Amino acid sequence: MNVCVSELAEHPQRFLHPLPVSANTTRRRVLAVGVIGPGRVGSALLAQLRAAQPRLVRDSGLELKLCGVVASKRMWLDCDDAELNGRHGGAQVWRPNDLDAFAEHVRGTDGRHALLIDCSANDEVASHYPRWLAAGIHVVTPNKLAGSGPLSRWQAIRAACAHDGARFRYEATVCAGLPVVQTLRDLLDTGDELLAVEGMFSGTLAWLCNRHDGTHPFSMLVREAHALGYTEPDPRDDLSGLDVARKLVILAREAGWPLSLEDVDLQSLVPDALAGLPREQFMDRLHELDVAMAARLAEARAEGGVLRHVAHLDRHGRASVRLAVLPATHAFAHSRLTDNVVQFSTRRYCDNPLLVQGPSAGPEVTAAGVFADLLRIAESLAVRA
Ligand SMILES: NC(=O)c1ccc[n+]([C@@H]2O[C@H](COP(=O)([O-])OP(=O)(O)OC[C@H]3O[C@@H](n4cnc5c(N)ncnc54)[C@H](OP(=O)(O)O)[C@@H]3O)[C@@H](O)[C@H]2O)c1
Repeated sequence: MNVCVSELAEHPQRFLHPLPVSANTTRRRVLAVGVIGPGRVGSALLAQLRAAQPRLVRDSGLELKLCGVVASKRMWLDCDDAELNGRHGGAQVWRPNDLDAFAEHVRGTDGRHALLIDCSANDEVASHYPRWLAAGIHVVTPNKLAGSGPLSRWQAIRAACAHDGARFRYEATVCAGLPVVQTLRDLLDTGDELLAVEGMFSGTLAWLCNRHDGTHPFSMLVREAHALGYTEPDPRDDLSGLDVARKLVILAREAGWPLSLEDVDLQSLVPDALAGLPREQFMDRLHELDVAMAARLAEARAEGGVLRHVAHLDRHGRASVRLAVLPATHAFAHSRLTDNVVQFSTRRYCDNPLLVQGPSAGPEVTAAGVFADLLRIAESLAVRA
C-alpha cells in the first residue's frame, strides 16, 4: 500500500483504524502507539503497521492502537472531534503541536503499554526521551540525534531505561534496515568483546567511491548522485561525513564506550572555503573538489589499492571518518552500488571479522527497521489489557 504524505497529513486516522479481527486471545496485548514525524519514513511506517495489523493480532495477539500523529506544527489525536478541533484555529482534524500533551495522551491513564516512535530528525524531540522513558513510555527511533548528541543526555536516557524498565531502541539509526545495532548487542550480550568496528556507513559516499574511476571528474559524479536523489538536498550533508560520524558514535556507545562527536577525527571532503556558502554557490563551485579527489585516486592506484570512505573505531576509543586507501583485497573494495558494510572485529571474530552488508537507505527499509524494534519491545510486554 502506497501512502501519500499529504493524504496522511489530512486523514491520519485512515491509516490505522481498528480492524475487525478474530484475535488470538491467549497472549492478547494492546500497545498504544504515537508516531512523531509523518514524513517519508513515518508515512512508510504507518502503512507497514496498518498492513501488518491483522497478521499481528491473529498470530501473536498483538493489537497496535494508533493514538496520535504529530508533525512539526500540528498533531492529530484519536480522541479529537470536530468540536474540540474547532477551538484550535478552526482546524478540522489537527491541533497545534504539543509534544508533552501528545505523550500524555498516548500513555493514557489506564496503565496500558505505550510507545512513541520518533521519525523526525529533530533535536528538540530527542530531548524529550529521558522524560518519556522515565514515565514508562517506550521509545523507538531512526533519529540519530539522541544516540550521537550530548553524552549527558544519552546517559540520562540509559538511566531512565534502567530505572523504569521502559525500552529505547534505535536500530534504524545505523545503516537503516540492516541489523547492525542488534548484531553488536547480541555479540556483547553473549559475552564477546568488541575490538574494532570498521564500516562504510554512507550509501552516497560508497556510490561515489565506486564510480570514481578517473573517467569523469568527481564533481560530475556528485551532480549525477544529486540528480538521482542519492544525496541529501545539500550534498555537503553527505560529503562532510558528519552523518557517518554520528553512526560511529552510536555504535561506540552501544559498546559502552563514552564517545562523543568531538572525539571523532572527521575529515570532510568539503574544502573549508566551500563549507559556509549558500547551497547554489556551493553547487556552482563543485569543480573545486576535483583536483584533490583526482590526486587521492592517483595515490590509491599507485599503492595498488582503492579509495573508500571509511569509519573506524578501535578498542582504545580512537575514532576516525575519512577517505582511505584500502588494499584491493579488502572486503570493502568489493562493495556494490550504495551498499553499506559494517565489519565487527571481536574476540570471537578476530581472524575473520563479522560482516553486515546490504542496501541501507530509503523510507521502506528504514521503516522496517523501526517496525522490527517495535516488535522486539512488544514481544517483551506483559499481558495487561
Ligand atoms: N529517509 C531515509 O532513508 C532515512 C534513513 C535512515 C534514517 N533516517 C532518519 O529517519 C528520520 C526521518 O527521516 P525522513 O526522511 O522521513 O524525514 P522527513 O521526510 O523530512 O520527515 C521528517 C518529519 O519530522 C517532522 N518533524 C520535524 N520536527 C518535528 C517536531 N518538532 N515535532 C514533530 N514532528 C516534527 C516533520 O514534520 P513537518 O512535515 O511538519 O515538517 C516530518 O513529518 C530522520 O531522523 C532521518 O535521519 C532516514
